[in-house]
Amino acid sequence: MAASTHPQRVLSGIQPSGQLHLGNYFGAIQPNLAMAGRGENIFFIADLHAMTTMQDRAALERARADIILDYLACGFDPERSILFYQSHVPAHAQLLWILSTIAPMGLLERAVSYKEKVEKGIAASVGLFTYPVLMAADILLYDATHVPVGKDQKQHVEIARDLAGKFNGTFGETFTMPEPVIRESTAVVPGTDGQKMSKSYGNTIPLFGSDAAIKKAIMGIVTDSCAVHDPKNPEGCIVYQMHKLFLDEGDQKALADEYRSGLPYGEGKKRLLTTYMDFFAPMRLRREELASKPDAVAKIVAEGAAKARAIADVTLERVMKAVGLE
Ligand code: ADP
Ligand code: TRP
Repeated sequence: MAASTHPQRVLSGIQPSGQLHLGNYFGAIQPNLAMAGRGENIFFIADLHAMTTMQDRAALERARADIILDYLACGFDPERSILFYQSHVPAHAQLLWILSTIAPMGLLERAVSYKEKVEKGIAASVGLFTYPVLMAADILLYDATHVPVGKDQKQHVEIARDLAGKFNGTFGETFTMPEPVIRESTAVVPGTDGQKMSKSYGNTIPLFGSDAAIKKAIMGIVTDSCAVHDPKNPEGCIVYQMHKLFLDEGDQKALADEYRSGLPYGEGKKRLLTTYMDFFAPMRLRREELASKPDAVAKIVAEGAAKARAIADVTLERVMKAVGLE
C-alpha cells in the first residue's frame, strides 16, 4: 500500500500558551511561512498539547483565540494553507492511542523536553509523558514530509520517525517518514538576558505587545560593560544577534563592522527598536483588523478543521485496516 501520494507536505503546530515572541516568529512562524509556497501546507494550534500545562479554562480559551489571530496576522493564507485547532479533529487523539500501544517506554523516557518540564515543576501527568506520541500522531495523520520546528522540538520529530518506522515494520507500510526542518541560523533566538528566548524565562520581546512593552524589552537587553565608544564584539552582543535576524547578509556585515568600530549599545538598541517596529507594523495592523471580525475568523477555523478532517480520516482508516480493526 502506498503510504503517500504527496511529493511534499509541510506541517507544523504551535501551542497556544502565551504571547508570541520574537523567538517563536523567527524559530517557527517565519520558517513555516517561507515553506508555504511549496506544496500543501498544514498548520494547527496544538490545544490538546497545551492541556498538559494549562488547566485554566478561561486562560486556554483566550490563548487559543489569540494565537489564531497571531498566525493570520503573521501572514498565513487560509486559502492556501489549512489552519485549524487540533482538538477539532478527533483523529489526532484516536491515533495517539494506537501509536501509544507500540511506543516503547524507553523511547519516551529519553525525551528531554519531558524531563525539563518536570524539573521546572510541571505536574508529571500521563499526558505530559505521552506528549511526543500525540505529536507523532499530528504529523503522521497528514503524511507530512517536512516539519519545520525549532531545535528544541527536533527530538520529538525523531520520535515520530521512530514510531512511523516501528508501525510500518509491524503492520506494513502505512506512514510517510517525516523530516524535521531546522533553520540553523535562527535555531535559537536569544532572549533579552542572553539565554534562549522563552516565555518561561521572562526574557521575551512580544510581537503583538504594546509599543511601550516592546520598547521596554528592547531597551532592557543585557549588554557587557564596554565603555560607550569602545570596540564591541558583535558575536557576543545580544542586541546585534537579534538585529541581524532582520537583515540580509550585506547589512549584517555592515552593522557588525559598526559595532567593531564602537557603535554604542544605546544607539544599537534604538536602531533595533526602529527595525522591529517597521518590520512588524503591518502585522500588528492586520491583527487589529482581524480582532474586530470574530465571525470571519471562526469561519476560517471551521473550514480549516473540515479540510483537515477529510485528510486525517483517510489516514485513520488506513491505520485501522492495517492493525485489523477495520
Ligand atoms: P517558549 O519557549 O516561549 O515556551 P514554545 O515552546 O511555545 O516557546 O515554542 C513554540 C515554537 O517556537 C517552537 O517551534 C519553538 O521551537 C520555537 N521557539 C521558541 N523559542 C524559540 C527561540 N528562542 N528560538 C528559536 N525558536 C524558538
Ligand atoms: N510541540 C510543539 C511545540 O511545542 C507543537 C507541536 C505539536 C507540533 N504538534 C506538532 C509541531 C506537530 C510540529 C508538528 O512547539
